[in-house]
Amino acid sequence: MNIKHIMSKLTLEEKASLLSGSDFWHTKSVERLGVPQIMVSDGPHGLRKQRVDDDGAGVNQSIEAVCFPSACALACSFDRDLIFRLGQALGNECQAENVGVLLGPGTNIKRSPLCGRNFEYFSEDPYLASNIAASHIKGVQSKKVGSSLKHFAANNQENRRMSVSAEIDERTLHEIYLAAFETAVREARPQTVMCSYNKINGVYSSQNKYLLTDVLRDKWGFDGLVVSDWGAVCDRPQGVAAGLDLEMPSSHGVNDAKIVEAVKNGTLSKEDLDKAVENVLKLVDSYVQNHDDDAVWDKNADHALAVDIASQCMVLLKNDDRILPLQKNRKIAFIGKFAEKPRYQGGGSSHINSFKVTSALFAAEKYTNVSYAQGYGTDDDVIDTALINEAVELAKNSDTAVIFAGLTDLFESEGFDRKHMGLPECQNELIRRVAAVQPDTVVVLHNGSPVEMPWIENVKGILETYLGGQGVGEAVCDILFGRINPSGKLAETFPKKLSDNPSFLNFPGDGDTVRYSEGIFVGYRYYDYKDMDVLFPFGHGLSYTTFSYSDLKLYAKNITDRDSLTLSVTVRNTGHVAGREVVQLYVRDVESSVVRPVKELKGFEKIELAPGESKVIVFTLDKRAFSFYNDKTHDWFVESGDFEIMIGSSSRDIKLSSSIHVESSDKVPFVCTPDTTMGDIMKLKNGVKYIEKLVGEFSKNLEGDGAELGEATRLMMEAQMRDNPLHVMVSFSDEKITHEEIAEICDKVNADFKGQI
Ligand code: BGC
Repeated sequence: MNIKHIMSKLTLEEKASLLSGSDFWHTKSVERLGVPQIMVSDGPHGLRKQRVDDDGAGVNQSIEAVCFPSACALACSFDRDLIFRLGQALGNECQAENVGVLLGPGTNIKRSPLCGRNFEYFSEDPYLASNIAASHIKGVQSKKVGSSLKHFAANNQENRRMSVSAEIDERTLHEIYLAAFETAVREARPQTVMCSYNKINGVYSSQNKYLLTDVLRDKWGFDGLVVSDWGAVCDRPQGVAAGLDLEMPSSHGVNDAKIVEAVKNGTLSKEDLDKAVENVLKLVDSYVQNHDDDAVWDKNADHALAVDIASQCMVLLKNDDRILPLQKNRKIAFIGKFAEKPRYQGGGSSHINSFKVTSALFAAEKYTNVSYAQGYGTDDDVIDTALINEAVELAKNSDTAVIFAGLTDLFESEGFDRKHMGLPECQNELIRRVAAVQPDTVVVLHNGSPVEMPWIENVKGILETYLGGQGVGEAVCDILFGRINPSGKLAETFPKKLSDNPSFLNFPGDGDTVRYSEGIFVGYRYYDYKDMDVLFPFGHGLSYTTFSYSDLKLYAKNITDRDSLTLSVTVRNTGHVAGREVVQLYVRDVESSVVRPVKELKGFEKIELAPGESKVIVFTLDKRAFSFYNDKTHDWFVESGDFEIMIGSSSRDIKLSSSIHVESSDKVPFVCTPDTTMGDIMKLKNGVKYIEKLVGEFSKNLEGDGAELGEATRLMMEAQMRDNPLHVMVSFSDEKITHEEIAEICDKVNADFKGQI
């Protein structure tokens, strides 16, 4: 397509019309100029392509496809290559089905375990979330199909998601909520970004210029198309001016007319309109140029991939007495409805019409005979004593009980948040009763978000499958029976109870306002700072083998913020079976002028090791790994000082550490006024010399009446001097220091430092 030519021929009305969908899933065409429409489809864990005969809005009426594990599971792989392979498969499916853009992945931060849509999101940690999202996008787009990174930004709850305002301070917004998108945008360059429904600090994302233009395009260099979440548009002309290119779905001409009107009356500039139209045309052109008519997809091959991926995401949370892998010659009972009919995906726009689903009960046949009792129902949460009694009898007469538990669709979904962090009570009761008669009990969990485990001490094994996709049953059995060694690590903390979670006091907020008062202390950043016991920490996950860590080498002891730091560590498989390990790198700022987390994830690698094998893993850290977001400079900022580099197998299992000194060239704005404290002046280079007289006058107070000053009084006076604004010294010195002298000090400091330090 010759976009320049088309732009010169389009009428104002045609331009406006291109900025909204023709229906639920298609853009509009302009036939006279050869602009076709293209189709977009949900995602992101499979292809939810709506059937042609469907009215469009139906949630379950999509073509038969393959349901891969959900984002909550995928992130636990900590495996960029694996997620890339998933993306490739999805991209190929899109090509074969004539879909131009896959609507995903979702990379919002898991602020609270209660968010109904956590299953669609990756992590509580922005570094992990953004890296996994980047791999997903790179995979999809390697097949020349667009991704839509969503929901930009701060869509961290379902409650009032279309009207709530997330009130977030600037540092937290950038360090946590935007950072989850940033790497994915910068590195993977998604063709589209989908704005969220909610407001941020009072402004709808769909018309938020700071978000869609200042940050996304100007800071991060995004050059694709911004699409609204479905129905997220409020003031359409304002949205166009702010950087929202495409409105989806159709607004039946209503908003197109508003755009025309706004251009005519001068409230929307032609330049802003043209930018948006060009972005739409570029997307359509990409489809036209890259569409592969010969693409075919093989559902069975993708099903096998779904099984493989699921088995590399599951997290072995607990394995006392090496209860897993199961011994095939023992009498094994599978208990719980999910063994027969697994919950493997969440409800809402990501729901896939799976062409087949394999249950653990079916998959176990490959390994051994297992007996089965249903244990509970899934239509409601009612304790069924007969079902439980039957399960208890079976458990008693078996050697091992494996209980398949988790959340049902009634407990978590798009559209609403969870009310509590518990499992259905009928399942908790079942687990309690079975564990009471069978010491060798294992629980296999199917849930999109952490659950409380009141029975944790009474079971020997816990395998977290999250929502494992349509091949979950095969993957579970591969792990239970030891064909696959588990290697997933938690991408979020499991707190002991909901009230431990940092957002507890402010979730889901008051009416249309939710204050993110916990600031940057989300997930492990909070639990670590508080030194709080958790059920399972971020990054935790067991294996059937063991690993040793050695030889942490930093290839420098001092760097500047323009250098990068290379380091290496050796990991060895010290057990008897092959296994994969996720090597995690955390950084701590030893001393800082602002409050910072105890550690932050800044690198990870997943490696595979045969028994006895060792590998050297190399990491490179750049300035960003040491920085915080400075709300004075409105940018990432590193402070000179020492940083600790920690290598761990989980956030609470640090194996090795070493330190590095970073010399910064960053400066902050600094203007001295009579309100500036003496302590802040003293911190400047040769600072004391500016205020020698003030210090002298203040010190007279320390001399007292000759009596010894107690240590506490001396500490108090020192603190008082540090925190004294300059102007206070006028009255404290009995006017021996004048306001004019204070003004002179300020002038001198400002002349020497020229506005920054
Ligand atoms: C969801 C998006 C989804 C869109 C289209 C919205 O309600 O928030 O994630 O892509 O619908 O189904």
